[in-house]
Amino acid sequence: MSKTALITGATGGLGEVFAELFAADGIDLVLTARNLPKMEKIAERIRAKYDVKVELIPQDLSVESSAEILYEDLSSRGFEIDFLVNNAGFGDFGRLIDIDWQRERDLIGVNLIAPVRLTQLFAKDMVARGFGRVLNVASIAAWTPGPYMNGYFASKAYVYSFSQSVHQELKGTGVTVTALCPGPTQTGFEKNAEMKNSNMFKALKVMDARFVAKVGYRDMMKGKPISVPDWYYKVYKFILRFAPECLARRIAAWVTAGK
Ligand SMILES: NC(=O)c1ccc[n+]([C@@H]2O[C@H](COP(=O)([O-])OP(=O)(O)OC[C@H]3O[C@@H](n4cnc5c(N)ncnc54)[C@H](OP(=O)(O)O)[C@@H]3O)[C@@H](O)[C@H]2O)c1
Repeated sequence: MSKTALITGATGGLGEVFAELFAADGIDLVLTARNLPKMEKIAERIRAKYDVKVELIPQDLSVESSAEILYEDLSSRGFEIDFLVNNAGFGDFGRLIDIDWQRERDLIGVNLIAPVRLTQLFAKDMVARGFGRVLNVASIAAWTPGPYMNGYFASKAYVYSFSQSVHQELKGTGVTVTALCPGPTQTGFEKNAEMKNSNMFKALKVMDARFVAKVGYRDMMKGKPISVPDWYYKVYKFILRFAPECLARRIAAWVTAGK
């Protein structure tokens, strides 16, 4: 019987590459994001190239109970989700005292509440069936505080920690949870986060979306708890272990804002 993957944030960037990787392995897709016309174009291209079913669900994940709405919709129509990719997310640039609260509230909804609740709902069914893979897109931002992108870094730290905890809780069930930690990657992210005053895409190694998604996909399939694309960021992670917190904070402030 064919398997099905649910991918959030599938209107471009990493989400679009994930969709293609699953389709290439013959796995049916359920794609969700806010922009339906963009998803339709991606679905059309995938259906023309691969023999898979592609279902589209427009959904704003910042909306309260959006995870439950998505789950109920799919369950009532008999969908069984074998792979869940919590990829939707965005950043916000600026000091906490200057940024717009509604945008920050939405960031917490999309980057944090939605992936946690979706993991809870779908992993329960996966455990009952004895198989499942969850890929939560965290970031290298998970490893330090992030002055000038405080909410974004904190949301990724939550996802990183929570994913590893749930991975451990589900040992022996056939269900694994992988936290993917990319560094800056060429997608729509930089523009959407309004990061023109940020140093991040200048100071750090910028990666190709296809490479990042491929590494994450491979590690998720293997059931690894953590996936770090590229040696550059494996070394960065290792060095951070020995950096005092005050230094890590300063490095992060320089990386995010050049300050
Ligand atoms: N690019 C990087 O440098 C980088 C580095 C580390 C981690 N990441 C993480 O990678 C993931 C994918 O981002 P990306 O780099 O591929 O950026 P992207 O090209 O901007 O894609 C973000 C996706 O999230 C969706 N999204 C945003 N707000 C949403 C909302 N309210 N409800 C539902 N979907 C929403 C967008 O779709 P709609 O606008 O159509 O809703 C889009 O498909 C994110 O979690 C990001 O934090 C990115």
